[in-house]
Amino acid sequence: MTSTNDIRRSFLDYFADAGHALVPSAPLVPHNDPTLMFVNAGMVPFKNVFTGLESRDYATATSSQKCVRAGGKHNDLDNVGYTARHHTFFEMLGNFSFGDYFKDRAIELAWNLLTKEWGISPDRLTATVYHTDDEAYDLWRRISGLPEDRIIRIATKDNFWAMGDTGPCGPCSEVFFDHGDHIPGGPPGSPDEDGDRFVEIWNLVFMQHEQEDNEIVRDLPSPSIDTGMGLERIAAVLQGTHDNYEIDLFRALIAESAEMTGTAPHGDMAASHRDIADHLRSSSFLIADGVLPANEGRGYVLRRIMRRAMRHAHLLGAEKPLMHRLVPALAAEMGGAFPELVRAQPLIEETLNLEENRFRRTLDNGLKLLDEATASLGEGDTLAGETAFKLYDTYGFPYDLTEDALRSRGLSVDRAGFDAAMDEQKKAARAAWKGSGEAASESVWFDIAEEFGGTEFTGYVSHDGEGQVLALLRDGERVETAKTGDDVVVIVNQTPFYGESGGQMGDTGTIANDGDLRAIVSDTSKPLGRLHAHHARIEQGSLKTGDVVKLSVDAERRTRLRANHSATHLLHAALRNRLGGHVTQKGSLVAEDRLRFDFSHPKALTPDEIAAIESDVNSQIRHNAEVTTRLMTPDEAIEAGALALFGEKYGDEVRVLSMGREGERDYSVELCGGTHVGALGDIGLFVVIAESAVSSGVRRIEALTGEAARQWYRGREASLTAAADAMKTTPDDVPARVAVLIEERKRLDRELAEAKKALALGGGGTSNAAEDETIAGVVFSGKVLDGLDPKSLRGLIDETKDRLGSGVAAIVAVNEGRASVAAGVTDDLTDKIDAVALVRSAVEALGGKGGGGRPDMAQGGGPDGDKAEAALDAIRNALEAVPA
Ligand code: ALA
Repeated sequence: MTSTNDIRRSFLDYFADAGHALVPSAPLVPHNDPTLMFVNAGMVPFKNVFTGLESRDYATATSSQKCVRAGGKHNDLDNVGYTARHHTFFEMLGNFSFGDYFKDRAIELAWNLLTKEWGISPDRLTATVYHTDDEAYDLWRRISGLPEDRIIRIATKDNFWAMGDTGPCGPCSEVFFDHGDHIPGGPPGSPDEDGDRFVEIWNLVFMQHEQEDNEIVRDLPSPSIDTGMGLERIAAVLQGTHDNYEIDLFRALIAESAEMTGTAPHGDMAASHRDIADHLRSSSFLIADGVLPANEGRGYVLRRIMRRAMRHAHLLGAEKPLMHRLVPALAAEMGGAFPELVRAQPLIEETLNLEENRFRRTLDNGLKLLDEATASLGEGDTLAGETAFKLYDTYGFPYDLTEDALRSRGLSVDRAGFDAAMDEQKKAARAAWKGSGEAASESVWFDIAEEFGGTEFTGYVSHDGEGQVLALLRDGERVETAKTGDDVVVIVNQTPFYGESGGQMGDTGTIANDGDLRAIVSDTSKPLGRLHAHHARIEQGSLKTGDVVKLSVDAERRTRLRANHSATHLLHAALRNRLGGHVTQKGSLVAEDRLRFDFSHPKALTPDEIAAIESDVNSQIRHNAEVTTRLMTPDEAIEAGALALFGEKYGDEVRVLSMGREGERDYSVELCGGTHVGALGDIGLFVVIAESAVSSGVRRIEALTGEAARQWYRGREASLTAAADAMKTTPDDVPARVAVLIEERKRLDRELAEAKKALALGGGGTSNAAEDETIAGVVFSGKVLDGLDPKSLRGLIDETKDRLGSGVAAIVAVNEGRASVAAGVTDDLTDKIDAVALVRSAVEALGGKGGGGRPDMAQGGGPDGDKAEAALDAIRNALEAVPA
């Protein structure tokens, strides 16, 4: 038997030998089309090549593309398990021509592969063509020699293929395999065509047009070819079965789930096994390609698929979570062709295990409720929408899981009732928010969120991406279009732009399109915690709702933000380790150029503590461990030791960031929705630049990382070198040199004071006698001394008084523009001369007020140092006026 892996290989080899470039499968999340949820056909990664927007260095290609058809135009979720051929995940083998060959070569290549290479008998093959496509009809006749009655003209959409409402499209020609008359069903176009006998195995699309909103709007630059062959279907044909789930690959997966649950792979439980095998593949590949379970968007489709499988595991009686235990079998089957599966295996297993553990907690009770609610219902009856809503809201049953659970009993669900209950809940949430007082400005966000759901954030894995414009706001009002010069808020369905939250600032960057649009995003906020609002100015071109735009985050800035955010987590852990468990986060700011962390701690950190903390963080950085992210409920996260912010409102799902190692445990585990480095070495360097108080009991640390930290050290180094140069020494000797200078300075200060004193006393207290004056019979010594320390005044006045024996002494000391004055009167004169009065007259001359002391000694001062001589004159005048 030819294995599925061999068939894939032989298809790709065949087209490679025929000159086609071998192109690996693109990831399941489309990078070039935001209107698509998942890649759902082999041509999706080549869409822009068909339309001429993008060119590659090959004109023909072949691939085996991973596809998911769950959600969106091509949705097979509800058929899985019930038909022989539907999958949520499958591989599409294809060959493509971008303006190279067209219909004839495409038909020839296909026919030769099927009948010559693989030896399928022409008798079992039938072709269809679009009813007006005579050219394809004639080519089939000529190339295959199929009889006329086995080239069937079909007028329906089945033979006109389009990838979605927009994109390349064209008439197509399908090849059917006849599994034989022992299986019910008729040829294509016949009334019983839906039976399993005639199965479409290959679709050759003659890509010629491009459409928008289902209207053909233009022809492609050149006619092209897109073909698609489901690998699982052709494997069934080549392995002699009409049932895809009987091929080697599925047998292996089903054998594993049968073994692990102790159930038979066939019989009553077959549908459950099939569902599990299919959903295992789609879940694992989605997780490998970066999708994680969530309550919106792609993550919710993943969650629905996972939970459906988990219900089936429950039906099989699995006592422990099952899905993650099947991953090794899947990796063994498919890891060779898809190495990403092996790379992501630990993440896939953990994600499946967490989800199953979590869902099992409510699954039993939900199923009990479902049993009770349907006990009295019979085939054809409908379950009340409210019950389905309760199952959804309280027990985590996605709507389609409930439908799936009832389908085998012939029961359906009242969808309108479910939707009404959901609306009620949304209204209640809105009313509750209104109570918070922010109603008016927030109401527009509610409208948008209700209409479109939240924004899907793609920025954990990528800085660029495309999005479809859902809403535009100008001056707070919704608008349909915006033009050059407008300041707008842009809401798209998916974006790599991080909206400010959790201390991390919002992203900046650009929004552009294939035309001339250029908008600069200066900030991104996150209203309602669900929408990412890009605050942008349109520099060029125009924008309207519905447009597909390219969103590019300023990657360098984001890289710095990521480093600062991860460093904040390390700092938090280091603080707790060094200072104690009382340290809790009180606030943080993660900006591009710095980080700030506020935390509870009763006193200032010592330089040693800061040095130790800085050293701990840098040691983690140098160990360069990978940063890991897991999704958990808040309770699980806290159980796992994650640091959570008290009083912070977390959703029912949180990201748990673990980074660094310390012995056997993670160095830091925190709940965080922010963006982080891949490995700690990316932070580069960490330096604390300030420690201060915010309020009583709350300290703040400011720090830098990476290049900013290096620049900071560089600045310090430059200052040190400048200081060394000025002191004519080396940087290393600066501290010793400064100590010497300080000592020297102290000594000089002392000497200077002594010298001034000596000068004031007139060289030992005698030679100054010549300068003494006699005013109204009283001896007066008056001096102005620049730079004299006012503290010396008293002592100098006393000494002068001693020298005079009988008389009046006054000194004005001038320092930095200000003047201090002191006057002394020898005891024999105090009955007629008052030192206080003398000083007051001097103070007035100095532009000051007051002055005080005793009759024999008084002091004061004033701002006008240049009036020092005038102050002495004022004292002279006062002495003149003393009655003899
Ligand atoms: N794109 C075509 C399909 O998906 C081949 O069927």
